[in-house]
Amino acid sequence: MGMKERIGEIHEAMVKELLGATSTQNLEDIRVRLLGKKGELTALLRGMGQLSPDERPKAGQMINEARAKLTEMLEKKAEEIKAREQAEALERETIDVTQPAQLPSLGGAHPINMVMDELIECFTGMGFEVLEGPEVELDHYNFELMNIPKNHPARDAQDTFYVDDNIVLRTHTSPMQARAMLTRKPPIRVICPGRVYRADEVDATHSPVFHQMEGLVIDKDVNMADLRGTLNAFAEKLYGKGITTRFRPSFFPFTEPSTEVDLTCSSCHGKGCRICKGTGWIEVLGGGMVNPKVLEMCGIDSSVYSGFAFGIGLERITMLRYGISDMRLLYEGDVRFLSQFRK
Ligand code: PHE
Repeated sequence: MGMKERIGEIHEAMVKELLGATSTQNLEDIRVRLLGKKGELTALLRGMGQLSPDERPKAGQMINEARAKLTEMLEKKAEEIKAREQAEALERETIDVTQPAQLPSLGGAHPINMVMDELIECFTGMGFEVLEGPEVELDHYNFELMNIPKNHPARDAQDTFYVDDNIVLRTHTSPMQARAMLTRKPPIRVICPGRVYRADEVDATHSPVFHQMEGLVIDKDVNMADLRGTLNAFAEKLYGKGITTRFRPSFFPFTEPSTEVDLTCSSCHGKGCRICKGTGWIEVLGGGMVNPKVLEMCGIDSSVYSGFAFGIGLERITMLRYGISDMRLLYEGDVRFLSQFRK
C-alpha cells in the first residue's frame, strides 16, 4: 500500500472515531492512538527512512499536513465535548437556593444550669461575687474549718466519699466559706455554686452527685435580719411578688444560730397543694449566722465582724420550677427530656 493510501486510511479512521467520541477521555484515547508518540501517524513518519530520497519530502509533507488537519479536527471536537460536558455538569449540580435549609440541631442548657444561671444573676445583682472551688477537697476545709468535729456522723464513710484519710469529695459547698475568708478581707460577699457529693443511694429524691450554691456575707454589724432580707429579695426575684421566706430553727456546726429556710410554695402561693403537701411552704435551703468559732479559725476577728451564710439546693429548686418529679431525669441525659428545656 502506498504512503498516500495509508495516510488516507488513518485519516478516515480518525474522522470516524472522532464522530463517535462522546467524552474528553474518549478523545484523549484517540489522540494517543493515532497522533501520539507511538501512534500510527508517527510510525509512518519513522518508516520514511525506507523510502527513496526523492520520495521522502513529498511523503513528509503529506504526513505533516495530515497531522495538522487531524489535530485541528481533534481540537474542535474537544471544544465541543467540553462545552457539552460543562453544560451537563451545571445541570446536574444545580442547587435550588429556595429550598428550606436543614438546620443543624443545637444543644441547649441543662435545666440545672439554667436555674444556676438565674440564681447567679440574682445574687450578682445584689453585689455578690461568684467564687468556684475544688470538688476534691481537703478534710480540713470540708469538715475541720466548718467546725464539724471528728466524731460527727457526717464524717462517716456511709455519708462521705473519702479519697484518702485527708481528702474527700466535698459534701457541701460550705468549705468555700473558709476558702473565701482565708483569701480575702471583709467586707466579703460571695456565692459559690457547684457540685457536691454524698454516699447516697440513687432514688427519686437522692443522688450521690448534686448541686448547691453557697452564699457568704462578712462585714461589720451583719445580722439575721440581713440574711432574711437577702433571701426574701432572692425569693421574690426568682418566683415573683408575694413569695417570701419562713425561718425554722435548725442546727449546723458552722452557723449559730442556724435555720432551715422555706419559701412560699410558688404553685399554690401558700394556700396548700399537692406539691407543698398542703403546708404552703417548701424547704429549699439552710442558713444562719457564721459561727464565731469558724470566723476565728478562718482569721476573722469575731469581735469586729459577723456574717451570715446559706446553702441552696439547686436540684430542689429546679424540680419545683419545672414540675420534675424524679431527680434521676436530671442526670440520665435523655434528649427527649432535655430538649424540652431548649429555649
Ligand atoms: N452546708 C449545709 C448543707 O449542706 C447548708 C448550709 C450552708 C447551712 C450554709 C448553713 C449555712 O446542708
